[in-house]
Amino acid sequence: MDTSCDRTPGTLLEASGARAVLDRLDAELVGLAPVKSRIHDIAALLLIDRLRADVGLQSTPPSLHMCFTGNPGTGKTTVALRMAEVLRQLGYVRKGHLVAVTRDDLVGQFIGHTAPKTKEIVKKAMGGVLFIDEAYYLYKPENERDYGQESIEILLQAMENHRDDLVVILAGYRDRMDTFFGSNPGMASRIAHHIDFPDYSEDELMQIAQLMLAQLNYRFDEPAVPAFNRYVSLRRRQAHFANARSIRNALDRIRLRHATRLFGLNAALTPDQLRTLAAEDILASRVFGDGLREGEKDGH
Ligand SMILES: Nc1ncnc2c1ncn2[C@@H]1O[C@H](COP(=O)(O)OP(=O)(O)O)[C@@H](O)[C@H]1O
Ligand SMILES: [Mg+2]
Repeated sequence: MDTSCDRTPGTLLEASGARAVLDRLDAELVGLAPVKSRIHDIAALLLIDRLRADVGLQSTPPSLHMCFTGNPGTGKTTVALRMAEVLRQLGYVRKGHLVAVTRDDLVGQFIGHTAPKTKEIVKKAMGGVLFIDEAYYLYKPENERDYGQESIEILLQAMENHRDDLVVILAGYRDRMDTFFGSNPGMASRIAHHIDFPDYSEDELMQIAQLMLAQLNYRFDEPAVPAFNRYVSLRRRQAHFANARSIRNALDRIRLRHATRLFGLNAALTPDQLRTLAAEDILASRVFGDGLREGEKDGH
């Protein structure tokens, strides 16, 4: 009997629908080359694992718990959502939903509250991805009786016992995450994939803006492009700059000024006017004036 597999990784990838998600990830997210290639690697691992199982090569499912490190607005949450979709399509998890939490969702204020809280979240995430943002806040060494430790223990157990139907992704700043792993070797040893999200270059931020605008059915007119480029290069150097999130927030404010300007025209508006953002909508930003000290607010 020929035991060779008639399904190539390529056809399997196609059939699972994961190819489409991977293609969208590549197309809809600017830059992030190292991140994208790591996700392709993980998809390959899962596909080969399935082909191996098909021909009777048994092994335990690979551990897929991950850590996403990077500054705010570098795409960690967005990629985690896509990752969850890919994992479902490759049959690693059943549902592929993402449950995004922070310490407050897992840890209680009083004795006896933490275990049920954490278990409830784990239950909700089962069959999908549990995304723990700023995960290092779970560990507070300065507080000897911090309930975070209890939450960590329960998470570790779930990560071990449900490794074939629950993927935990820890996210946060790189240096704080490193410190966290330094004092939590149990957690460190269960994280199989560390993916670093670099800050975007000025060029990438411009591309992200254009992509966001296209998705929103807006466009910059010709003078608006260099104006926004100036905006980006100033804003990047200010406090509270949050990469792509700051771009999204800036576009929101520009749309607001655009709307106010059109409103003031008090005339019949053409479709072109309705979708075209002008340099003046951008140049009115505080970033060009005294905003240099303060920065614009880009809350989460
Ligand atoms: N590479 C990218 N290309 C296009 N949009 C991006 C990219 N990275 C982030 N974004 C957008 O920026 C915003 C913030 O991203 P997010 O994933 O929330 O960042 P983080 O979780 O790292 O803080 C989202 O609206 C997201 O769609
Ligand atoms: Mg996030």
